[in-house]
Formats: sequence, structure tokens, C-alpha cells
Amino acid sequence: MAAVNTTLQNAKRVIFLGCGTSWHAGLVGEYLFEELAGIPSEVEYASEFRYRSPIIEPGTVVFAISQSGETADTLAAIREARRHGAPVFGICNVVGSSIARETDAGVFLHAGPEIGVASTKAFTSQITVLFMLALKMGRSRRVGAGRGRELVMALRDIPQKIARILASRERIETIAHRYKDSQNFLYLGRGLNFPVALEGALKLKEISYVHAEGYPAAEMKHGPIALIDRDMPVVFIATHDGTYEKVLSNIEEVRARGGQVIVIATEGDTEIAKKATEVLYVPETDPLLTPLLTVIPLQLLSYYIALHRGCDVDQPRNLAKSVTVE
Ligand code: M6R
Repeated sequence: MAAVNTTLQNAKRVIFLGCGTSWHAGLVGEYLFEELAGIPSEVEYASEFRYRSPIIEPGTVVFAISQSGETADTLAAIREARRHGAPVFGICNVVGSSIARETDAGVFLHAGPEIGVASTKAFTSQITVLFMLALKMGRSRRVGAGRGRELVMALRDIPQKIARILASRERIETIAHRYKDSQNFLYLGRGLNFPVALEGALKLKEISYVHAEGYPAAEMKHGPIALIDRDMPVVFIATHDGTYEKVLSNIEEVRARGGQVIVIATEGDTEIAKKATEVLYVPETDPLLTPLLTVIPLQLLSYYIALHRGCDVDQPRNLAKSVTVE
């Protein structure tokens, strides 16, 4: 344990490896580690990692993120990282899995068995673990005791805030019913909510077979804006944080082109309702924790759209729970 602590405390750079939803969690981790711990961080698709010439200097710490712990691409990337001499920590859900066994140390998510093919509770658990790791590393670097306490208290409030979002599922279902026949969706968010936009789009693709793309909201004007018309619902994540005003102007750009706008906003933000076609509210939290809340309505939206389209939400076509081939 002492050796693990020393390795983490001395880390000069962090690399997150993962695939699919676990990669999205790694992208949240990248933002959190930079913000809280001030450590240069990057997330890599495990499937691409060993086909480049990864530069792994002394002091680089690798975190391999995987719900199943059996993803072949992630296992191969771990072996590559270890070949370069990097310490590799696992963040897995399945105890005794291959990744848990092949990594130097790690954390189990303890999310319970995830049965549905689409990863949901593993995603929020991965973010929670990454948040706690970033906070732990940040406390010995740049996060003071007061701020640390504030963040821990905010984290403790998350479960009851998620319960409040789940209680609004009827409204989410109504919106899902309205948009169930749309053929394309765009998901936009900035900062920590950019990975959530990617995850929302992935969930919709996986279980509803509806084409969806996630983008950083500001990238919209560099291409995807050409797609916007009345038939293209755009899901924005526009919670109260440093990017709020900018996201508002992105919403206006979409509305000006006739796009239907579904917004995930912070409770109490009545102004945004004037700009959006639909609003789904999440409770206020520390901006660093918003992904844990904003992803829930997106998971539910996909779930209800899939149900209304008659899809099997637990066992979508062509997908396996763990991808054990490269
Ligand atoms: O078990 P893993 O977290 O390593 O799986 C990685 C991806 O295959 C997985 O997240 C996939 O993208 C899910 N179907 C997402 O819902």
C-alpha cells in the first residue's frame, strides 16, 4: 500500500486506458486529474494505444478502466504499458477478472453485477472512483483541506440527488415518446459535460439503434451545424458552470436554424426554458461532480426511446457485454 501511495504521489503524468463507456469515464478522469491534482493527463483508446509508439517516461502512471476486466484491447494496452515499465492500476468492476489480475494494484467499483449490455452504473461508479483518486492526489498538491471537505460533502449528496432525477422519469419518458421516431440526434456539452455528451450519444446508438453523435458544443460551428434542421433533435448539457454562457449561445445558434433543443439544465434555471424546446432538470452540485447527475437523464432518455421503438434494452443486437476479441 505504501508503495502504491508513493507511486501515485510522485506521478508526473497520468494515462487512462479504456474502450467505449470506460474511455468516456477516462475522459472525465483527464479533466478531474488536471483540475484537482494538476497532473498532465490524457486518455487513450486502448485499441489504438499499442499501434502507436506511446511515449512513456519515468513517472508516468497508467490507469486501465474496465467494467468487465476482460476487454481484450484494454488487456493488450496494459501489457504494452507494462512493457515500457509503467506502473498500471486497474479500475474494474469484476473482482478476479483478467485486468484485475494483470495490473499492479487497483480499485474495484463494487457497483454490483452489471447485467445489461449497455454500461450505466459502471460509468457513474468509474467517475466516482476517478474523482476520489484525483481528490486524494490533489490534497497533497493543490487542494486545501476546506475545499477537500466541501468536495467530499458534495459527493456524499450525490445518491439522493440521483434519486430525485430518477423520480422525474415520467417527464423523461414523455420527451422520449415525442422524439422516438427521430433518425438522428446530436449531443453537445463542454468541459466535463463533453464526455457526458459522448456517453449520451453512445447509449442512444447502442440500445435504440438511432444514429447519434456527441461533440464538444463549440465544435458544432465547425461542421455539425450543417446538419441542423427541424428533424434533428439536439441535446445540450447546459448546467451552471464556467461554460454556461457559451453553451447558451450555442443553443441560440441551433434554435435560429429551426433545431429542436432538449436541454439538461440546473434546477431553478427557468430562463433556459425560454430558449429550449424541452428542459430536463438536475439538482445543483459542485461543477466537478455534474457528470454524475447529467448522465442520468441521458441514460433514461435512451432507455425510454428504446422501449418505445420496441428494442431489447438489455441485450441489444450485435453487442456483447464484454468484448474479448481484438
Ligand atoms: O468492460 P469494459 O468497460 O472494458 O467494456 C468496454 C466497452 O466495451 C463498453 O463500455 C461498451 O462500450 C459498452 N457496451 C457501453 O455501454
